[in-house]
Amino acid sequence: MAVLVTGGAGYIGSHAVAALLEKGEEVVIADSLYQGHEQAVLGGKLYIGDLRDEQFLAQVFGENDIDGVIHFAANSLVGESMEDPGKYYHNNVYGTLCLLEQMKKAGVKRIVFSSTAAAYGEPERVPIDEYDRTVPTNAYGETKLAMEKMIRWFDTAHGIKSISLRYFNAAGAHESGKIGEDHHPETHLVPLVLEVALGQREHITVFGDDYPTEDGTCIRDYVHVSDLADAHLLALDRLRQGGESAVYNLGNGLGYSVKQVIETARHVTGHAIPAVTRDRRAGDPAVLVASSARARDELGWSPSRSRLEDIISSSWNWHRTHPEGFKS
Ligand code: UFG
Repeated sequence: MAVLVTGGAGYIGSHAVAALLEKGEEVVIADSLYQGHEQAVLGGKLYIGDLRDEQFLAQVFGENDIDGVIHFAANSLVGESMEDPGKYYHNNVYGTLCLLEQMKKAGVKRIVFSSTAAAYGEPERVPIDEYDRTVPTNAYGETKLAMEKMIRWFDTAHGIKSISLRYFNAAGAHESGKIGEDHHPETHLVPLVLEVALGQREHITVFGDDYPTEDGTCIRDYVHVSDLADAHLLALDRLRQGGESAVYNLGNGLGYSVKQVIETARHVTGHAIPAVTRDRRAGDPAVLVASSARARDELGWSPSRSRLEDIISSSWNWHRTHPEGFKS
């Protein structure tokens, strides 16, 4: 029996594929390679195509004995989603519908879904738990929430059990040094800061230092990509053991400000990393920190790479050995 990983050539997906292979699982990957990289796939059987292509997906399910799906394939740029929401509804929501219809046809009853803290929007309180209100402030988060809900209706109607994992800020790279973050365009804080350290950018722009936080910059909960990957394996195991559908936050419960991230990166890289403060970026909540108590209690998830310094060091290891990403 194989595990199908959609979006398995992407940043988080490729780390999940690596973790599945390390556990001896048979892995099938479906990725369009619009954002993903063929070199990020460290093993398994890769199918290149789009989930919205019915023939393609029928072939993937037809040629493999799939017992569970881990679904990463999606567009994930907040800014882009505000300019072109249609693209997000079409690829993310309709793509997920195509996947679920195919699972129904093939009788596949388990899915682990890559969701996001963006489902919450501006939090009412921190740390955020899974019972807090979900009012996304951007189209990306709205599509992920719609996907979560659609997946739940496929449980009600067709018995497809799901675990949705709402990630906070993924960062870091695989300890082998073989895979890491390589986005075009890059918009995330940690890789951008490291590009400054590599001399690829003159400075890092700090989006606002007038937030109601101690140093005035936004606070986020950074979580190592391999800890996220591990959670997907635990979630799949839980579903295999007959677990019910559920939603879990994945974060360390530790908040770091933009300034703290830059300072830590200076320490890790030994570079000055000049920073320039600009206006706030639209749609950024001041503080996003997760309560992952539920994932710890029910999945037995225990993130082991929680220190910001370790997370940034592992990213730095990837970036300095792959200054051009997978092209290096
Ligand atoms: N930031 C800067 N300068 C930059 C880039 C980012 O100051 O050049 C700041 C942002 O304003 C934010 C923090 O650094 O305060 C983190 O920003 P990221 O873009 O790295 O991450 P986000 O918190 O905006 O977004 C991440 C994921 C999204 C997800 C969201 C959920 O990338 O996919 O978490 O909270 F929706």
